Amino acid sequence: MKRKKIIAANWKMNLLKDDVKKFVSDFNKEMESIALSSDLDIVIFPSSIHIEMLREMIHPKVKIGIQNISKHEKGAYTGEISVSMAQSYGCEYVLIGHSERRQYHNETNEKVKAKLILANTLNLKSIVCIGESLDERENGKHFEVIAQQLAQCLSKDVIQKSDQMLIAYEPVWAIGTGKTATQDQAQEMHAFIRSELTKLSENNYTERISILYGGSCNESNAASLFSMPDIDGGLIGGASLSAKSFLNIIKSAM
Ligand code: PGA
Repeated sequence: MKRKKIIAANWKMNLLKDDVKKFVSDFNKEMESIALSSDLDIVIFPSSIHIEMLREMIHPKVKIGIQNISKHEKGAYTGEISVSMAQSYGCEYVLIGHSERRQYHNETNEKVKAKLILANTLNLKSIVCIGESLDERENGKHFEVIAQQLAQCLSKDVIQKSDQMLIAYEPVWAIGTGKTATQDQAQEMHAFIRSELTKLSENNYTERISILYGGSCNESNAASLFSMPDIDGGLIGGASLSAKSFLNIIKSAM
């Protein structure tokens, strides 16, 4: 069974309104000449304030996602955005549990699980982010940490909805640092994640779950990472802020 490849841009809290317009104009021009196959999804996660504008302007083959959702369905939660609001603005994807949310916004595995269940009820595709810190890797605890994150964030039901749940393996020490995991380090962890998913679901639906790599992925290292058998695309931060480099990363996945 062929898994879907995903190249996703995580713009984080970057780009002003005019920067988004410039990105779109550069990006759309070049996209016309790219023949995308149906097994490759391109997704952009802009700041929520840009979602409506980006969706109206960007090439129709690009899907839009939201960087975070509330764990509540609706109500008195000032500053929050619900999963149904995101859906009503055309978002098809949601990022859940990004390490920056875990680090600065107290996003625990329990919250990740609650958000994932909510996103699942509305059929949004969730990209669940997991990853170990530098300390954990240096102390040889990376497999243990990842296994625990998976066990605490996911339930059997969620894993079985394999077309709606994706994993992004983002070693925290590689995010925004310019230090990428080697293709072998990433492949080793992706294969481990897949085997853990199989254990948790007691089934092999997991062959269908796409596992993305994130952490200083760029134009120079993307092709070698994406050539590995368990790496099904990437979640790109810094290198997705320029249309040119994001397009080059897309091309390296084709
Ligand atoms: P980076 O970010 O590519 O800038 O390292 C990736 C991410 O945080 O998703």
